[in-house]
Amino acid sequence: MVYEGTRRVGVHEVEDAVVEEPTDVVVRITSSAMCGTDLHMYDGRTGARPGLVLGHEPLGVVEKAGPAVTMVAPGDRVVMPTHLYCGVCPTCARGLTAACTRVRPGGFGAAYGYAGMGPYRGAQAELLRVPYADANCMPLPGSPGDAYEDAFVLLADAFVTGWHACELAGTGPGDSVAVFGAGAVGLLAAHSAVLRGAAEVYVVDHLPERLAVAADFGALPVDTRDGDPGEQIRSLRNSGGGMPPGEAGLDGVTCGIDAVGFQARSRADLDQEDPRQVIDDLAAIVNPTGRIGVAGVFAAHDAHPAPHGHADGTLQVPWAVLFDKGVRVGFGRTHDRRYTRLLRDLILTGRAEPQRVVTHHGPLEDAPAFYTAFDRREDGVIKAVLHP
Ligand SMILES: NC(=O)c1ccc[n+]([C@@H]2O[C@H](COP(=O)([O-])OP(=O)(O)OC[C@H]3O[C@@H](n4cnc5c(N)ncnc54)[C@H](O)[C@@H]3O)[C@@H](O)[C@H]2O)c1
Ligand SMILES: [Zn+2]
Ligand SMILES: [Zn+2]
Repeated sequence: MVYEGTRRVGVHEVEDAVVEEPTDVVVRITSSAMCGTDLHMYDGRTGARPGLVLGHEPLGVVEKAGPAVTMVAPGDRVVMPTHLYCGVCPTCARGLTAACTRVRPGGFGAAYGYAGMGPYRGAQAELLRVPYADANCMPLPGSPGDAYEDAFVLLADAFVTGWHACELAGTGPGDSVAVFGAGAVGLLAAHSAVLRGAAEVYVVDHLPERLAVAADFGALPVDTRDGDPGEQIRSLRNSGGGMPPGEAGLDGVTCGIDAVGFQARSRADLDQEDPRQVIDDLAAIVNPTGRIGVAGVFAAHDAHPAPHGHADGTLQVPWAVLFDKGVRVGFGRTHDRRYTRLLRDLILTGRAEPQRVVTHHGPLEDAPAFYTAFDRREDGVIKAVLHP
């Protein structure tokens, strides 16, 4: 699946992926998911060059292994984290794999099929070269096409990112959590918050079919077309018996999550973007001493910034409100591999059901139509999974 230019993608023949280093494997892809991150590139915003093979959410079977690979072998079913890493550098050794110092010359952290994130070819393809395979291949039980296929492909990115958003926001037992964005990442952040024991989880968006999935996960949907989401959440928290005595000022939430990123829509006009909208709303709804996790991507260079945006990624944010409330804010890419194994095991015991966000399946040839529909938020596409 090759990026041809703004809002143009196509299926092209490219050279087969091969073992280049003794530590590589080549994986035959059985499922490869599409992501909101692909849309930042598809929309021509983040400097993708024509010819880029897209995709960073791969699940498959090892086909060939280099001579130095010892942890996996041909025939093994594996999922690979989006953010590839070496496993042994100072940041990897601390489990902070998205900031690996060795995978991107002149930078830190890398990803497959991702403009500006290293030379690694994308995973919406039949074959994928996986560097540092002992670190990057997560073994899985079962066989391709079984009942776990949809859940396991979400271990590459969407589920681990949802979980990471909860880590950034420090969600735990008894918390009240507001998640902005009901894409796969926001929905799986809501699912993660419930699994981590939150008392209440609100999911904010303007797309009813996505909010319905949030309700399915036990979250309370908040539709921004019905008014200010913060006011809606406060009034929900005050409904029923109302806030307990002495807690009237705490009718916001303890934790807030941005699962939208720089392409956030303006609530004043849903046809326009406003990259400040979500952080403004989060600053307003989070309680004093609350925590915010920002998992939505903010691009370093935006080729077509919105009116309130900035080409170099600089944003005006409500710093004083955050200071005054004593809010902790965490940012960034998910350190996938910290969570892959534990989320795999929650899937295997049936406690986690991330596959509820998967709405579409098809061969690579269907991908251009999926990109169009996903970009326009049409046909109910939340997560499309390709089977190359
Ligand atoms: N941190 C990471 O490692 C990481 C990993 C994967 C994805 N991401 C990012 O997470 C974000 C979400 O990914 P996704 O696949 O779920 O994308 P998506 O595009 O499917 O979902 C985004 C959702 O946000 C909603 N939205 C837009 N403006 C809003 C607003 N003002 N308030 C509330 N909701 C609003 C949209 O309607 C949409 O449902 C993207 O920015 C993606 O790049 C980050
Ligand atoms: Zn992704
Ligand atoms: Zn490393």
